[in-house]
Amino acid sequence: MNPEDFAYLATQIKNRSGIVITAEKMYLVESRLLPIARNLGLADLGALVAALRRSVPAGLISTVVEAMTTNESLFFRDVRPFEQFKRVVLPKLLEARATSRRLRIWSAACSSGQEPYSLAMVLAEEEARLKGWTIEILATDLSKAMVDRAQAAAYSQFEVQRGVPAPMLAKYFVRDADRWVVAPRIRSMVRFREFNLLEESAVLGQFDVVFCRNVLIYFDQPTKAKILADIAGRLPRDGTLYLGGAETVLGITDRFEPVAGERGLYRLTPAAPAALRAVA
Ligand SMILES: C[S@@+](CC[C@H](N)C(=O)[O-])C[C@H]1O[C@@H](n2cnc3c(N)ncnc32)[C@H](O)[C@@H]1O
Repeated sequence: MNPEDFAYLATQIKNRSGIVITAEKMYLVESRLLPIARNLGLADLGALVAALRRSVPAGLISTVVEAMTTNESLFFRDVRPFEQFKRVVLPKLLEARATSRRLRIWSAACSSGQEPYSLAMVLAEEEARLKGWTIEILATDLSKAMVDRAQAAAYSQFEVQRGVPAPMLAKYFVRDADRWVVAPRIRSMVRFREFNLLEESAVLGQFDVVFCRNVLIYFDQPTKAKILADIAGRLPRDGTLYLGGAETVLGITDRFEPVAGERGLYRLTPAAPAALRAVA
């Protein structure tokens, strides 16, 4: 692909998704986009970019952007955040929300659904304490294909083996031929929808906890800062943010600060002016 076409493609992908693609990622662009070009009967990536410039066929840009997302996920990824959620965050929320008895959790780049279903399983384990509570897990992703896959809730043996503890597999999954399907009671706790983190998330409402893990790594600093400011506006004063192990707020935003001793866990910075929080 010539440099001009690459620059065009990279700009389109960044504007639509925030994902930054540098020249060293050319191999990734080729491996992910050549199959799309071939499906359309196009000779090479140059022809694909020409089709993108003409916007023919309609929707081609969405197909290209989706192809450039990395959807790697697993159940109980990194284990610790889920333990922390159960041990640190949930008990505090149960106390703080004892009157409303409502909890809303946002899995902000849910990929194929392992993260929100892991959270639902953690909450299901606390069934006795959560009797009478209204709990909603909203799981969103830019990729329609991922949202559809997550909603289908069917996983291979390999996928469940990568993170689901055996007792939970027996309790919360149903075997269907060579697939494991998430049980209806866990599925009913999660609502899925397509959502691009570049958009204003106010339409999604307020949340007590936001999991935004392993997605900011694909964005540049201004995009990370904008998304984090937007998420800050979705959280109440005692809200919690989880980021991935390779992600941080440090040097990016002063709206959040790390919770000491709890890796990956962030809370709103007390010093952040309330007025700013209200408009974010
Ligand atoms: C590596 S997966 C992370 C999945 C899960 N959070 C985890 O930690 O296992 C990253 C996901 O971010 C999604 N994504 C990328 N850009 C996005 C955007 N602008 N808005 C929403 N989701 C996006 C991708 O489609 C992909 O499913």
